Amino acid sequence: MSKNILILQSSPRIGGNSDILCDEFIKGAEEADHSCEKIYLTKKDIKLCTGCLTCDETHSCVIDDDMREILEKMVNADVIVMATPVYFFTMSGQMKMLIDRTTPRFSEMKDKEFYFIFTAATPNEKHLVNVKREFKSYLNCLTNPTNKGIIYGLGVGKVGDVKEKEETLLEAYNYGKIV
Ligand SMILES: Cc1cc2nc3c(=O)[nH]c(=O)nc-3n(C[C@H](O)[C@H](O)[C@H](O)COP(=O)(O)O)c2cc1C
Repeated sequence: MSKNILILQSSPRIGGNSDILCDEFIKGAEEADHSCEKIYLTKKDIKLCTGCLTCDETHSCVIDDDMREILEKMVNADVIVMATPVYFFTMSGQMKMLIDRTTPRFSEMKDKEFYFIFTAATPNEKHLVNVKREFKSYLNCLTNPTNKGIIYGLGVGKVGDVKEKEETLLEAYNYGKIV
């Protein structure tokens, strides 16, 4: 069955390591006849949550920016891929900003499958324990999500370093293919 996959790419480095792994994932998924849309968070107008919690009542945000359209896509997706570079052993600010802005409609995100792409200069997966925990906490706020897997791009500092990591590229491709 063809699935509707939304890729949320939070690195500001277009063509960087996270982006390359997203593209490998997409290559695999498209070969398996799934439909993919990648959104570069840094190309979108996503303002910070003001914490007003008006959305508790209205289920919509008082801020009129690109997050409305992104949230609609998240609610309609079968599969969501969240890609982040590791910054100070946590997720990117861009990704956290997006997550906070899902508040109006996170209760509508039901039965979704999630994949995660983490890229970091450290070669040690254990150093990413916080990042893993942060996304797990987010999924705990949703209804019946499935964490289908994490692709770790480790030991990659400079743009394009991940191109040298054949196993990681293949892993991303294969994850896309088995969606
Ligand atoms: C602000 C900043 C903080 C970073 N902090 C870490 C870190 O805590 N641990 C780490 O392993 N790499 C860290 N890095 C390196 C990036 O995670 C690494 O360069 C990654 O490949 C970037 O992915 P991208 O090419 O998709 O942007 C940091 C990079 C930046 C710019």
